[in-house]
Amino acid sequence: PRLWLIVPAAGIGQRMQAEQPKQYLRIGQRFILDITLSRLMDSAPFSGCMVPLHPADHWWPDTEASGDSRIQTCTGGAERAESVLSALHALAEQIRDDDWVLVHDAARPCLHTRDLSNLIDQLYHHPVGGLLASPVADTLKRAGTGDLPEVLETVDRKNLWRALTPQMFRYRILVDSLEAALAGELLVTDESSAVEFSGNMPVLVEGRPDNIKITVPADLALAGFILSRF
Ligand code: CTP
Ligand code: MG
Repeated sequence: PRLWLIVPAAGIGQRMQAEQPKQYLRIGQRFILDITLSRLMDSAPFSGCMVPLHPADHWWPDTEASGDSRIQTCTGGAERAESVLSALHALAEQIRDDDWVLVHDAARPCLHTRDLSNLIDQLYHHPVGGLLASPVADTLKRAGTGDLPEVLETVDRKNLWRALTPQMFRYRILVDSLEAALAGELLVTDESSAVEFSGNMPVLVEGRPDNIKITVPADLALAGFILSRF
């Protein structure tokens, strides 16, 4: 099977509260989106890459990636899952059912090459696929609601993981799972949750915890620090 890449970049970065979507903020001289895309494209033999963009996006032509003929764009949707599905549909003519699709957030520029190659090597012969994940380090509380919610219980963190990206799935399983999950209005915050709902069992490959998603302003400085130590 061949390897394909989808990098959803159609979000507006509401929690970042910046002038432009966070994938178009710069770390050093470069757009976050360019750091993310070049790291991925330089590290694995992808047959192609699809980047869903917001319909009102006008920054893409300023990226380095826009000059890379291996990278194509399509129009994303209102939810992340819809953006990924639109990219999958855009690949339909070129891709085979058992080919691999890796989905990686544009807002995760700190992916290490070793984690990427490890994910591919570990899953390449698997029937379904899986994702990078990192064991939970904090003590976890389940609580009620309100301004000062009461603790209901401490959740045992043994066997609890943080889901990261890339997430890597067989094309047909991923398309069918996302279509079913969206039609059923299920809560799909990553590809794995949709695949789980369809009755398949993704597997976890342990990845580095510093593969962070840039979400709030403080994450920008943190990502800059992490990248400076690469
Ligand atoms: N994304 C997307 N299409 C959407 C929503 C999100 O392609 N409709 C992408 C984002 O661009 C980002 C990744 O999915 O690369 C992870 O989403 P998130 O961190 O939530 O980014 P935003 O939705 O942009 O941020 P926020 O939720 O704070 O608005
Ligand atoms: Mg979002």
